[in-house]
Amino acid sequence: MTLSRRTFAQAALGTAITAALPFAPAARAHEGRHPLVIAHRGASGERPEHTLMGYRLAIEEGCDFIEPDLVVTKDGELVVRHENEISGTTDVASRPEFAGRRTSKTVDGEAIEGWFAEDFTLAELKTLRARERLPELRPQSAAFDGREAIPTFQEVIDLAKAESRRVGRTIGVYPEMKHPTFLAMAGLPIEGRLADALRRNGVDSPRAPVIVQCFEVAPLKTFATLSSVTRVQLVAAESGPADRAGTLYADMITPDGLKEIATYAHGLGPDWSLVLPRTPDGGLGAPTSLVADAHAAGLAVHPWTVRAENQFLPPRLRRGEGPAEHGDVEAVFRALYAAGVDGVFSDFPALAVKARG
Ligand code: G3P
Ligand code: CA
Repeated sequence: MTLSRRTFAQAALGTAITAALPFAPAARAHEGRHPLVIAHRGASGERPEHTLMGYRLAIEEGCDFIEPDLVVTKDGELVVRHENEISGTTDVASRPEFAGRRTSKTVDGEAIEGWFAEDFTLAELKTLRARERLPELRPQSAAFDGREAIPTFQEVIDLAKAESRRVGRTIGVYPEMKHPTFLAMAGLPIEGRLADALRRNGVDSPRAPVIVQCFEVAPLKTFATLSSVTRVQLVAAESGPADRAGTLYADMITPDGLKEIATYAHGLGPDWSLVLPRTPDGGLGAPTSLVADAHAAGLAVHPWTVRAENQFLPPRLRRGEGPAEHGDVEAVFRALYAAGVDGVFSDFPALAVKARG
């Protein structure tokens, strides 16, 4: 059964603080409602990603949703990290007591050496400290290295609820299941743990301010059998889902592919370049038909990830000198909003809110 835009609208709109909601389901994006600002891993351009201080800052800056990527610990707890290999965003490599945990694994087809969340208990992980992933690009954020531990998913839910009460508007949570097929093979399936966590917290209905996302297909379908929470299928500009050898994301975003996605998800999360391609001379091109095609299939569209630094912008939008300086990211936000997207993931929620106007 194809899920309707109305279903998504109900999911996005059904919260405890409906009067103040800035949410913009697909059907309303062109009717004056604000696209969602989704704080990608927190305010991760300004604080180490996936920290409570980063989420707090994003909320102060006016975001609608905070995004935790999720992996699973050895003892089955959901924790917030972008990868299960944790040396890029924690101090684990400098901790002699964990030197023996360094190992090699193949994750989603890629050989990786390092320290893996599923080899640590929650208590062990909690002794680590978060650090900035891109310290040369984001030295101001790196100044906050070492201040906070890895959050659990429960702590992020608690924060969203407490902050919603404090600021008087609903702060949604937009969890992503990371490496679900790998984790299932490791004996730590994530789908049921996530559904259970949402149920325990009373946010497991289509009307809850929660959106679950995944780059893989079967895990999102499995999650759909366990929970009625709103779901988004992520697609990258290249390659395909790790659980579907031979399937390309490019095939999934044809009009027929989008109709298929709409049988198990309510939205599409594409790389933003799939909405706004670059011109041959390094500028922003005219929007593709993706937003219109997705809307025609009944899917909301939430592109990722808009970042302000020159390094992540098309050449003609770069300003000043060097990769760390901020370019004309406002042009990207404005073009995405004008293209009719229903939300946008950004490392800089304040800039996304400002451009939304
Ligand atoms: O989930 C949207 C966006 O976060 C996908 O990219 O790699 O940052 O999780 P990633
Ligand atoms: Ca993510």
